[in-house]
Amino acid sequence: MKMDGKTVLITGSTDGVGRYVARNLAAAGAKVLIHGRDKTRAETLADEIRRAGYAAPIFYQADLSSLAETRQLAEAVLAEHKRLDVFISNAGIGSQNQGPARQTSTNGYELRFAVNYLSGFLLAHRLLPLLNASAPSRIVNVASLGQHPIDFDDVMLTKGYSGSRAYAQSKLAQIMFTIDLADELKGSGVTVNSLHPATYMNTTMVRAGGITPISTVEQGGEAILHLVSGDDVAGKSGLFFNGMRQAEANPQAYDEAARKRLRALSLELTGLSG
Ligand SMILES: NC(=O)c1ccc[n+]([C@@H]2O[C@H](COP(=O)([O-])OP(=O)(O)OC[C@H]3O[C@@H](n4cnc5c(N)ncnc54)[C@H](OP(=O)(O)O)[C@@H]3O)[C@@H](O)[C@H]2O)c1
Repeated sequence: MKMDGKTVLITGSTDGVGRYVARNLAAAGAKVLIHGRDKTRAETLADEIRRAGYAAPIFYQADLSSLAETRQLAEAVLAEHKRLDVFISNAGIGSQNQGPARQTSTNGYELRFAVNYLSGFLLAHRLLPLLNASAPSRIVNVASLGQHPIDFDDVMLTKGYSGSRAYAQSKLAQIMFTIDLADELKGSGVTVNSLHPATYMNTTMVRAGGITPISTVEQGGEAILHLVSGDDVAGKSGLFFNGMRQAEANPQAYDEAARKRLRALSLELTGLSG
């Protein structure tokens, strides 16, 4: 897909791999809608893009740990843009950001489940009319190889919490959602895929986990850009990629009953079922 003249929303683009992808999409001629919580970081990125001679990105500020702010983000994009060719759900927190203790979102949900998964679930659903109207269009869910099956008796991890489990559960939820949504969108011209961009890139969440980075933001960024615009993935949907290559996810991703449970729970938690 040629990105010239396309409109792309990428969450979590004020930092890390999202920032790299936003810069590259702007260089390719896309209208880039960047997102994050920090206005100063967004302005620095916008200046950098403008100075390089490309169209300035449009910044949307929203804390995705709040479903109300997530909804407002979707409403603003719907109101202000006539098309949306790509939605990249990339914002996330790692296993150790702000320490090892269990945290909850504004709505009282386990924080990683809320920010890494539920917000993207809600945004994708809210943005679907615009993505549909702009078809062929794509959704890219930035997940991970770190995946842990969901225990439906304790999704909010109230017992035996660990940050790595919380992170890995939220990442598998994104992959399960990808498979489900692809099914729902069959024939619509909107595709949805998920990926592990690269292992331990040199980003804030990796450093916050005290982990020594082993790959670059460029490596992960190129894997995301492949799903955004690669001609070889046009029409492909519901797949999980490890970097550039299609891969198998945790077995729970292929358990239809588990996906159905997750979907029902997510619709309820985000208020979409009402
Ligand atoms: N790094 C890796 O090695 C690796 C490996 C596999 C998968 N991934 C995935 O890649 C994606 C990007 O990760 P990264 O490594 O680039 O992380 P990062 O450098 O820590 O950046 C995370 C981005 O998400 C935003 N964000 C975090 N919490 C938010 C919240 N509550 N509301 C709104 N925005 C929020 C941040 O915005 P602020 O500027 O406001 O903080 C930032 O823009 C994540 O989904 C991650 O799980 C990363």
